[in-house]
Amino acid sequence: MNNPFNLNNKNILVTGASSGIGKEVAITIANMGANVILNGRNAERLNIVAEIIKKDSTIVVCGDLTVGGTVQEIVATIPKLDGIVHAAGIMRLLPFKFISEPDLNEMMNVNFTAPTLLSLEILKKKKINNNSSIVYITSINGSVVGSKANAMYAASKGAISGIVRGMAIDLAKSKIRVNEVAPGMIETSGSMEIENIVSEDAIHEDKKKYPLGTYGQPEDVALACVYLLSDASKWVTGTKIIVDGGFTAQ
Ligand SMILES: NC(=O)c1ccc[n+]([C@@H]2O[C@H](COP(=O)([O-])OP(=O)(O)OC[C@H]3O[C@@H](n4cnc5c(N)ncnc54)[C@H](OP(=O)(O)O)[C@@H]3O)[C@@H](O)[C@H]2O)c1
Repeated sequence: MNNPFNLNNKNILVTGASSGIGKEVAITIANMGANVILNGRNAERLNIVAEIIKKDSTIVVCGDLTVGGTVQEIVATIPKLDGIVHAAGIMRLLPFKFISEPDLNEMMNVNFTAPTLLSLEILKKKKINNNSSIVYITSINGSVVGSKANAMYAASKGAISGIVRGMAIDLAKSKIRVNEVAPGMIETSGSMEIENIVSEDAIHEDKKKYPLGTYGQPEDVALACVYLLSDASKWVTGTKIIVDGGFTAQ
């Protein structure tokens, strides 16, 4: 039987592929048959991911997406795509009244402006096929709920949540689908950095807020991406899959 979740021969660009969720997405979708193009800033860690994937079709395009000209250079070198997973992003806890304009600009640049300009450049240079799938990794923060000292991050993810719906409508005539995966707390080096500034007791208490009793793993997000990138979701656009162990069901 044909497996509707397979990603055979699909060229898929994954940003944030050097770490955490993006790394796991890249490895998982490669296992499901995709040819993967890996982006991140750290060349050494990207090459390790390429070694794990062990496929000649893997391409590494290293670069900081917020630096002028990088997006154009990357798009010029990549093959025509069947999918994009925007997983690059930064997280930072800061109480609302301590936010400065540079903090806000940095957060919005990395989490909102850079992925938006990357999608735009790919579309303008016709580097994406009809019937493709674009997936943004957002967060339950900003997409569904708010949390303490997280307003700036929530704003950046909420902005993506909005653009997903607008893009989905505009790109539907090319049958390009646009969706978001909104995770709760996922155990990665990025989220652990935040946890370093919170006490162990507080983490223990926080985990109790998740009905399934633990934080999520990168593979929980990666498997939702497989669905959205595959033909199994061919009639799904402009929406979100929440992957949060039941947190927002309460
Ligand atoms: N972990 C969670 O609990 C959680 C929950 C909800 C949503 N998310 C979202 O999921 C995504 C991945 O999070 P994570 O936990 O996997 O974080 P992570 O381990 O810190 O990984 C972040 C990735 O983004 C890349 N990146 C950051 N700034 C970049 C830039 N300017 N240009 C290119 N690449 C850049 C990093 O590249 P280098 O390392 O090579 O610099 C790295 O590959 C983020 O968008 C985050 O907001 C995470």
